[in-house]
Amino acid sequence: MRALVIHESLYGNTRAIAEAIALGLAEVRPDVDVRVLSAAQVVGPPAVALADPDLLVVGCPTHAWHMSSVRSRTAQMAKDRREAPDRDHAPDAEGPGVRELLELIPGAPGVHAAAFDTRLGSRFSGGAARGLARALRKAGAVPVGRPEGFIVTGLTGPLRAGELDRARAWGRELAAVLAGSARDAGPLAARRHGPSSRRMRTRRGEGRSTTAKPPAAKTDSAPT
Ligand SMILES: Cc1cc2nc3c(=O)[nH]c(=O)nc-3n(C[C@H](O)[C@H](O)[C@H](O)COP(=O)(O)O)c2cc1C
Repeated sequence: MRALVIHESLYGNTRAIAEAIALGLAEVRPDVDVRVLSAAQVVGPPAVALADPDLLVVGCPTHAWHMSSVRSRTAQMAKDRREAPDRDHAPDAEGPGVRELLELIPGAPGVHAAAFDTRLGSRFSGGAARGLARALRKAGAVPVGRPEGFIVTGLTGPLRAGELDRARAWGRELAAVLAGSARDAGPLAARRHGPSSRRMRTRRGEGRSTTAKPPAAKTDSAPT
């Protein structure tokens, strides 16, 4: 069994959340091959086949209340070069992102997918995850869990205290998708579109989740 946690990230915070989610998944399902990849790595070339994984978890930063894009990232990077040349950017910050990844989803109809974003903490901040979840569904994925937002304390971060733990806990909840058992989903199961939905129940009986020691999730990108 395989799970891919795919991120788009300009300053590295969304990537850090992706890694924490992967740890949570691996914690509950040490038997599952959990990989963390940037959207650019998946889009390629060569593109990674998305029909194979049992679960996709996809996340990006919130830019202008919505999903980030190649355009929003490259514009911000140009601004940073002018105004804050010391600012570091995540690997693949200039590459394709989740919008380009969405074009691959029709090649994997019915794949289970969950969406997350990073965003500022204000109630006026908006968030990308809901639109991303909608786009994943429109492209043919089966949404699982409720879209989740993780809070950064400023444009470049850092993440608010406790957000990595929350991401890891969310990963543990998502592991219920792989376990095929809504009983293991915790709060996720109670939510709309959660693993207790009809489509999720089609995966029941594939196995049970465990609380075994977490193996490290594999990250295929270079450290920030
Ligand atoms: C061009 C731009 C627009 C942004 N717009 C928003 C926004 O509308 N709402 C919000 O909550 N955060 C906004 N942010 C802050 C991002 O949410 C923050 O930079 C991101 O979560 C950091 O994630 P990253 O380190 O993975 O890039 C914006 C950031 C940039 C660079």
